[in-house]
Amino acid sequence: MFYSGIIIVNYYREQTELLLKSLIEANINMNISIFYEKQDTYKTIKDLTYHIGNVGVDLKTINQNRQDIDIAAFTYNDAKYIRKEMQINNEELYYLYIYIEIYSENIKDLEYFINNIEGILQSRGLQIRNANFREEQLFMACLPLMQNESDIKNIARRNVLTNGLLATYPFISSSLFDEDGIFIGKNIYSNSLIFIDRYNTQKYKNANMCVFGTSGAGKSFYIKLLILRYRLLGIEQFVIDPEREYLKLCDKLKGTKIIIGPSSNTYINILDIRKESIEDNDNGYLATKIRKINRFFSFNFWKIK
Ligand SMILES: Nc1ncnc2c1ncn2[C@@H]1O[C@H](COP(=O)(O)OP(=O)(O)O)[C@@H](O)[C@H]1O
Ligand SMILES: [Mg+2]
Repeated sequence: MFYSGIIIVNYYREQTELLLKSLIEANINMNISIFYEKQDTYKTIKDLTYHIGNVGVDLKTINQNRQDIDIAAFTYNDAKYIRKEMQINNEELYYLYIYIEIYSENIKDLEYFINNIEGILQSRGLQIRNANFREEQLFMACLPLMQNESDIKNIARRNVLTNGLLATYPFISSSLFDEDGIFIGKNIYSNSLIFIDRYNTQKYKNANMCVFGTSGAGKSFYIKLLILRYRLLGIEQFVIDPEREYLKLCDKLKGTKIIIGPSSNTYINILDIRKESIEDNDNGYLATKIRKINRFFSFNFWKIK
């Protein structure tokens, strides 16, 4: 297998779209490694203030050329902006490193893929560099080892505020990503994670769903998982369960088990009249039952109003 690395060295701070969206949709063999390093807020503000003071003085001295002044003014305003966001909007400063590693079984394809990816990244305004002479460090950084060596770090470092971190969220796919959805599984083509919000009435006509699969494929497991996750989100779940397969789950979640049948003592039909409910006298069960039903309906009508 041949590997080659690309380092993202810069992008527009104003970028609000998801940064890696088009890359993930490109469906090319690659690993993306993203490192975030949270910076100490107190120290950052102190350093920024120091910098702002220094550059402020520089800007006032007149014996510099135009370009120097432009650069100084730019970093000055930038520093002031970051300090303001941290002090007033409670944002935090992070160092961000993004590495992309492309791989293929033959070099020709690899070159083709690299060109492809470079094109995509550049068209989205991201500045990149090939990891020439640093391929090994980049390879290591893309393994799950949390290894980010200074050889590549120093080129890749960008600072972002908390808000900017959002743009680096990688688990997306154009068709199967609902913002408030719950995690379902992985897209086998792009490896991206799939989140679906069945109750999104703007996107779906209704929340109906059907699961197909061979025996033992995991249908029941999946449905139970869904029930659990929706319960965690506070959405009531009802199960019609002729095979009594969900009893355990119901017990675990402290649900109510309703068995329907003449001998059962739980029922959902408010009009159900049991044998023992038919009595003659006024204080008998029938009278109580009628009173109960009366209350039930008046309560409900009141609620509808
Ligand atoms: N995602 C999963 N992770 C781990 N085990 C699973 C997963 N999905 C299914 N299984 C296991 O596979 C077996 C069959 O799953 P099951 O849901 O009963 O299949 P089905 O209902 O489609 O016949 C069960 O033992 C279940 O625990
Ligand atoms: Mg099953």
